Amino acid sequence: GGDQVPHGALAGRHVLITSGPTHEPIDPVRYIANRSSGKQGHAIAAAAAAAGARVTLVSGPVALPDPPGVETIHVESAREMLNAVETSLPADIAIFAAAVADWRVADATSNKMKKDGNALPPLALVENPDILATVAHRKSGRPPLVVGFAAETQNVIDYARAKLAKKGCDLIVANDVGGTGVMGGDANTVHLVTADGVETWPTLPKDEVASRLIAHIAGLVPAGRA
Ligand code: CTP
Ligand code: CA
Repeated sequence: GGDQVPHGALAGRHVLITSGPTHEPIDPVRYIANRSSGKQGHAIAAAAAAAGARVTLVSGPVALPDPPGVETIHVESAREMLNAVETSLPADIAIFAAAVADWRVADATSNKMKKDGNALPPLALVENPDILATVAHRKSGRPPLVVGFAAETQNVIDYARAKLAKKGCDLIVANDVGGTGVMGGDANTVHLVTADGVETWPTLPKDEVASRLIAHIAGLVPAGRA
């Protein structure tokens, strides 16, 4: 991976990337989370660094090492992720690859919940902030290029088009996570969805998807500022 990215293509740029899942506490020993290894987001961070960018990676809990040459901020919950992202702005390019939990438990308990033999514990949920939409809709300090992901199990392109509009981003990288071993696996099949149309890539290793995505993005941002 990384070999298609022109060396220095993103020199002088700040690229902000989210990756991994978020963990939303239920009590001190339990949480709600999405399935996400962080492999795709971390590979994008490494590819951006290889292209000469200054890279900030805001990562949820993953079993991966921090990519070399990348400033990595570790967070647990969606609200911590949003806070770290906003603190890391401004950025030239923001890429939201994290699988953020859509909901958190309204009243996480400070002590471990115990089985009492009868009633199941009620878990009232509240919606988490949408980090991508919050950044893409900023009135000032919006990164010039905002990229979202869409993991779908059906109607992949239609749902991606809807997300592009609703979230206010410039590009959606849509992937079909139904069926095969995309989640946690090493390969990914993606569609690049913009207002102008759809570009479908062949199934590729995640680090190849990352380097191609960074090369594509480098072609979209106005030429060198370094
Ligand atoms: N995202 C985010 N913050 C959230 C939820 C999603 O930043 N609270 C970002 C993801 O990182 C991804 C994009 O939004 O780049 C789409 O995430 P996805 O879960 O596919 O979309 P949702 O809007 O949450 O819709 P749904 O899960 O209902 O399909
Ligand atoms: Ca979601």
